[in-house]
Amino acid sequence: MTLNHLPADFVWGASTAAYQIEGATKEDGRGPSVWDTFTARPGTVRDGHTGDVACDHYHRYEEDLGLMAEAGLTGYRFSIAWSRVLPTGRGEVNPKGLDFYDRLVDGLLERGVEPFPTLFHWDLPQGLEDDGGWLNRDTAYRFAEYTAVVAARLGDRVRNWITLNEPFIHMAWGYGLGTHAPGRALLFDCLPVAHHQLLGHGLALRELRSLGLRVMMANNCTPVRPASPSAADRAAAEAYDILHNRLFADPIFTGAYPDLSAYGADATLGGSVRDGDLDLISAPLDALGVNYYNPTRIQAPAAGGLPFEEAPIEGVRHTAFGWPVVPDGLRELLVLLKERYPALPPVHITENGCSVDDVVTADGTVPDTDRIDYLDGHLRAVDAAVAQGVDVRGYFTWTLMDNFEWAEGFHQRFGLVHVDHETQVRTPKASFAWYRDLIREHRANA
Ligand code: NOJ
Repeated sequence: MTLNHLPADFVWGASTAAYQIEGATKEDGRGPSVWDTFTARPGTVRDGHTGDVACDHYHRYEEDLGLMAEAGLTGYRFSIAWSRVLPTGRGEVNPKGLDFYDRLVDGLLERGVEPFPTLFHWDLPQGLEDDGGWLNRDTAYRFAEYTAVVAARLGDRVRNWITLNEPFIHMAWGYGLGTHAPGRALLFDCLPVAHHQLLGHGLALRELRSLGLRVMMANNCTPVRPASPSAADRAAAEAYDILHNRLFADPIFTGAYPDLSAYGADATLGGSVRDGDLDLISAPLDALGVNYYNPTRIQAPAAGGLPFEEAPIEGVRHTAFGWPVVPDGLRELLVLLKERYPALPPVHITENGCSVDDVVTADGTVPDTDRIDYLDGHLRAVDAAVAQGVDVRGYFTWTLMDNFEWAEGFHQRFGLVHVDHETQVRTPKASFAWYRDLIREHRANA
C-alpha cells in the first residue's frame, strides 16, 4: 500500500494503557485505583474478569519491548498508573513506581521507539475517589502535582506528553451511566467531571510547559450523522455532537463551552467554572490526539429521557464488538475538525483498531485478515485527509496486544499480538507482520 501523503517522519505506533496490560496491582507499593475497586464488585465486568494480572506486562515488559522493536514501531503510547507513583493520589511518592516507567522509557529509547505517555487513562487512585474523584475540583490540582512528579523524573527523555485519555468516555460511562469505574450513575449531574478533567489538563499543561515539554490530549471523536433529514433527527444529532465531540474540544480550541441547554446545564456546568479556568484550558496544544473507531448515527428519542438515541448503521461490516466499520469516517472526521477549529494543531491518531474473535490456529498462526482490512482502510483514510490539508503526524493502532477491555473483560481482542490469558504466551498475528512490512516500506521510501 502506498501512502503518498504521509510525511517522511510520520510516527508509526501502537497504544496501550496501564490497567489494561500491567497487572501486578498490589506490587512494589502500588495503591488501589478505582478500577481495582470496581472490578472487585460482582456484576461489573463480564465473567468477573479483572486487571489483577492482565498481560502481566509489569513483569514481561522486556519481552513486550522486543515485540515493539520487531514490529519496527517508531512510537509507543502507554499510560502511567497514577497510584503506582502516588499510592493514595497525593503526598508521598513511591520510588518503585517511578522506577518502572523509568526502565520502560529507557528500554523504548534503546530500541529507537519514541515514548508517548498518557498521564490519566481512567485509573484514578481510590484515595482521591473517596474524596469525590473528578466531581471534586481538588482532583484537578492533585493531577497537576502528580504530573509535575512524573515529568521531573522522565522529562529529560520524554518529549511528548498526553494529559487525558478520552475524558468524554470517562465522564459518561464512569460517572454518567456507571458502566465503568467508579460506577456512578448520575446522568447529567456528571457534567462537573468534564470541567474538572479539563481543568486538570490545563493545570498539567502549565507544569509540562514550564519544563519545555510538548502537550497533547487524546479525545474520542466520532462524526455524527442524523438518521434522516427530519428536523427532529437533526436536532438530536446536534445535541449528541455537542456532548460527545464539542464538550471536550470547544473549551480547548475556542475558550468556551458549547450550548449545553439540551442537558439542563448552563455555561458554568453546574457552577463548576471559575474565573481564569478557561484561560488555562485553552492554552494551545502542541498536537491533538484523535481516537477514532466508528461514526455515530443519531435519531430523535422515541420517549423522554436523553435528547438523542443511537440508530444502527446498516450495510457495512461490524467488528466482533458490533461496531460498524466505516474507514472514510476517519477522513470525514479529520476534515470536519479542521473546518470547525481553524487553529487545529497537528493531529496524531492516538487510537484506531478493531476487535476480532482471533484464535491461534493449529499451525500456530493468527490469520486476522479482518483486522488487516480495517487498518488498511483507515490508514488510507488518514492519507486522504492529509491530501485534503489536515496535518496528521502519527498513527497509533489500538492495540499492541490483546488486553483487558474494561467492562468486557478479556472478551474483545484488539491486539496485533494475540495473548493467551491463561499462559501469557504472546503470538504475533498476521496483522503484526502486515504492519511491520508497511512501516518498513514507508520508511524505506521516505
Ligand atoms: C478507547 C480506550 O481509550 C481504550 O482503553 C479501549 O480499550 C479502546 N478504546 C477500545 O475500546
